Amino acid sequence: LWKAVPEAPADPILGVAAAFRADPSPNKVNLGVGAYRTEHGKPYVLPVVARVHRELLDDGVDHEYLPMEGYAPFISAAERVILGDAAAALREGRVASVQALSGTGSLRVAFEFLKRFYRPRAGAGDAGSLPKVYVPSPTWSNHRQIVPDAGLGDAVLYRYFNAKTHGVDFSGMCADLRAAPPGSVVLFHGCAHNPTGADPTMEQWVQLLDICKSGSLLPLFDNAYQGFASGDLNRDAASVRLFADAGIDLIITQSFAKNMGLYGERVGCLSVVMSSPCSPEIRTRVLSQLKLVVRPMYSSPPALGAKIAARILGEPGLFAEWNTELQKMSSRIYAMRVALRDRLIANGAPGSWQHVVDQIGMFSFTGLTPQQVAYMVEKHHIYLTSNGRISIAGLNPSNINYVADAMKDAIEA
Ligand code: LMR
Repeated sequence: LWKAVPEAPADPILGVAAAFRADPSPNKVNLGVGAYRTEHGKPYVLPVVARVHRELLDDGVDHEYLPMEGYAPFISAAERVILGDAAAALREGRVASVQALSGTGSLRVAFEFLKRFYRPRAGAGDAGSLPKVYVPSPTWSNHRQIVPDAGLGDAVLYRYFNAKTHGVDFSGMCADLRAAPPGSVVLFHGCAHNPTGADPTMEQWVQLLDICKSGSLLPLFDNAYQGFASGDLNRDAASVRLFADAGIDLIITQSFAKNMGLYGERVGCLSVVMSSPCSPEIRTRVLSQLKLVVRPMYSSPPALGAKIAARILGEPGLFAEWNTELQKMSSRIYAMRVALRDRLIANGAPGSWQHVVDQIGMFSFTGLTPQQVAYMVEKHHIYLTSNGRISIAGLNPSNINYVADAMKDAIEA
């Protein structure tokens, strides 16, 4: 029956994780998937997460279904952490949110909702057409799969990265977004752009807001690294809050995979922030349709991780402890950036390496070519995505010199 089914290509990121697992070499290093590791290279369960998990069990947590929209205390806490406690959109009841399956699931529900209800050019006698969805070039590989899977056609790329400066190609980005048809959806990474680690400055975000407003573009902020970039949740939410505080329509997706280490628990949230003013009926109707996307797709989201996250977000003592954890994780990543740059300079690897330190978040976009990446994998058993992205979290004092020296070898080979 299935003879004609062709084998699917390996996922650009999760395929690297699978190849790493299959490699028996004792020297192997995994710099592929963006998952935090301790300085001993082990997965990290945040102590505050482990404690709250145990408390929930002691309190007799049940495993009943959540409602379609998810766990209410989690949803309101997630809205507050990204928008800020004082957000006008929250005070004015202009946010409709559902808990969803981490970042990917939140995006998938968002795009499904947009496909069903967003017809930018609809007007007198015109039923409107599906919006174009703009994503940065490059972007997280899954963005480019989620958009067409939701029926919105291939995502359109806007220029984002300047390979010469290793930073944001801001003029290219502005030019492409100014040329986008009115009503287009523009996906932004709220902070810690994946894969490049290069973010716009605050002044640049102000200009991007202006472009979105004057071009009638609908911004969609994907937030997978809040608190991970700078160690400061407020600072990492500044781009999103700038846009939300402008009172415009926007979409927000959140993942608590990285910042709470809840990867496999699939804890995320999708918020539709409606422009001001907005009547309560509109919010009710939007929420009802989000639930109708969820029910046939996966019925309701998983409960345990959301209950853990809600308790941490909702209790000031736990929240403070979590913030300290975020600072610790982001500081370890920063220390590894510095150590990698220093070793690459010391070993004489061709090129300039300051960008490794200047980039932010979990990744560095090293500049290694696909051939050099293949060499790193084959010769040194160091796994990274073919675009030259490395997960800095996979570096530690025991492997950093090995990795830096292999990079030099790959560049010179
Ligand atoms: C990554 O970019 O490595 C992470 O966001 C994990 C994933 O699902 O791709």
